[in-house]
Amino acid sequence: MKYYLTTPLYYTNGTPHIGHTYSTIVADLIRRFKRMQGYDAVLTTGTDEHGVNVERSAKNAGKSPKEFADMVAAEFRHEWDALGLQYDHFIRTSDPKHHQTVQWLFERCRQNGYIYEGSYTGQYCIFDNLYVNDANPGDPCPDCGRPTETVTEENYFFKLSALQDRLLQLYDRNPEFVQPEARRNEVISFVQQGLRDLSITRTSIQWGIPVPAPGQHVFYVWFDALIGYLSAVRDEDLWPADLHLVGKEIVRFHSIFWPAFLMAADLPLPKRIFAHGWLLFEQDKMSKSRGNVVRPEPIRRVVGVDGLRYFLLREIVFGQDGSFSYDALIGHYNSELANGLGNLASRTLTMIHQYRGGVIPASEGDGMIETTALETIKTAITLFDEFEFSRGLEAIWALLSAVDRFIVQKAPWKLAKDPAAKDALDLTLYTAAESLRIVTALLAPVMPESTAKIWSQLGMAEPLDSVRLDALTWGQLQAGQRIGEVAGVFPRIEVKEAVDKMRVIEAEVVAKQAALLGKTAPAAAAAGESPAPPAPPLPTSDSRIGIEDFSKVDLRVGLVLSAEPVKGADKLLHMKIDIGEAEPRTIVAGIAEAYRPEQVMGRKVVIVANLQPRKLRGITSNGMIVAASLEGGRPVLAGFLEDVPVGARLK
Ligand code: MSP
Repeated sequence: MKYYLTTPLYYTNGTPHIGHTYSTIVADLIRRFKRMQGYDAVLTTGTDEHGVNVERSAKNAGKSPKEFADMVAAEFRHEWDALGLQYDHFIRTSDPKHHQTVQWLFERCRQNGYIYEGSYTGQYCIFDNLYVNDANPGDPCPDCGRPTETVTEENYFFKLSALQDRLLQLYDRNPEFVQPEARRNEVISFVQQGLRDLSITRTSIQWGIPVPAPGQHVFYVWFDALIGYLSAVRDEDLWPADLHLVGKEIVRFHSIFWPAFLMAADLPLPKRIFAHGWLLFEQDKMSKSRGNVVRPEPIRRVVGVDGLRYFLLREIVFGQDGSFSYDALIGHYNSELANGLGNLASRTLTMIHQYRGGVIPASEGDGMIETTALETIKTAITLFDEFEFSRGLEAIWALLSAVDRFIVQKAPWKLAKDPAAKDALDLTLYTAAESLRIVTALLAPVMPESTAKIWSQLGMAEPLDSVRLDALTWGQLQAGQRIGEVAGVFPRIEVKEAVDKMRVIEAEVVAKQAALLGKTAPAAAAAGESPAPPAPPLPTSDSRIGIEDFSKVDLRVGLVLSAEPVKGADKLLHMKIDIGEAEPRTIVAGIAEAYRPEQVMGRKVVIVANLQPRKLRGITSNGMIVAASLEGGRPVLAGFLEDVPVGARLK
């Protein structure tokens, strides 16, 4: 049986971050889970490469849109591969196979009478690729707040309004079509308010798929990108998709436009659109302009891929918004993986080595634990099937705790000293090992790397990913099986050290990716060079200065990598700030009464980079942070509303 699922096709005007990673990890988990249930699960991910945004980003980087998209698409692929994500198709909307599919689908819609020519003037949000209805020139986009632009175009229109009733019928007859419920209601009420026809071609841009019609039209990016799900598998017998996984902000495109295009082309509709929530960073929206975008690379390099997967699936209720923070990530890793699962595995396997020469003893195991394990198998599979990953994991952890308590209660270390307790010891060890096997199999889709290690330490011959979850039951662990070497799977992590390490790697990754996207400003001072000479004193006779004087002040955009209080100085914060040089600057600033360290970490600030170094409380400060000074001298840090690359000069 086939199961075809997709992630969104990510825009290529930026590099992969934790939000994209979240969607792709969940898709990879579902693919693995379905495969372990006997489905031929196929996953498509990829990149959405056309449109003004990519055209502009490419221009800024001095590249052609195609060269730029090639580079970013390669970054996505590289990151998904480094994270061990298993996808079957990586569709790029610049792929000729996709161009043909879009043109083909357009023709079908046209032949069926759903396309007409018209002219349109309206407010357009370039960032969201969306016309904003009922907006006046200069009005902000209701989604992102950026100013809209007035656009007049001769376009091809899609008769969306003609499909309103069929769409409402679709939601009504298939309540699972849009999930979760809150999103479904939102979509229904949007459609009930009335749908306008959609302009699906553009003449204002070149970087797009040509429309097979007279004139210089290219397709509107959403008429282009959504069709990628179909182009990826056109040669296979996989359509319709069983599941489109998306973030909540693009649920309307998927549950209104997409089925409408398919209805008009007379093609089968996807079975389900599931919209998940947003990952916030420490309760704040993640955005480039806030400088708090988290990348996956530092996390996988310090905590490991499975630590990240576990956190995202356990801590964030799928479908709702959730908060990400490095501290919470490591806290959960230590308490539930290092102390929980990791500890149970090494304890159980070590005892089997010590007391039974590394061989699984013969026993039926403990009846109570068997019952709990059988219930857990059922519950976890049902919950995973319903995408209730967090609750599924809770159920598995409840079994782990029950087994832990069981071991403590049986005290095998005491039984081992008493030859008359041989059977009791066999029963205890078998129960622990069999529970560990079941837990490992259930967790395989969630944490493929570490469960494979535990599986081989248990001496299992069958590859873990070919285990069938629906056939998983108690008593399949064979007596007499020789277990492997025991090696810790989740070593404990020291929080502060790990967070510092991740922040440093994060800064490296940001700089590397900015360079790749052609965003780095040339750093004036090379590493090791002494700071530039101080500016001469400003004239006192007239307080006005010439531009040449102002230009002597080297103001730069900096990213605060770390911040900590200075002992014995209530006002001072000691910070490491990346200003695009080889090494971050040490800067001590009198802002501690207004900002806590965690409020400035990850923030983009303005730095005076060519001040003479100054010693404050024994620390040499190499620069100054710019802030407004309010009543009572309260500092308010200068910042940016737009995205700015680290190291950029202010002029
Ligand atoms: N190109 C469109 C999608 C076209 S699909 C045919 C697009 N691209 S995107 O690069 O902006 O990716 C958006 C998706 O990335 C979201 O829908 C979500 O899946 C994921 N995320 C991006 N930021 C996110 C968070 N902060 N949190 C969780 N996921 C988010 O929209």
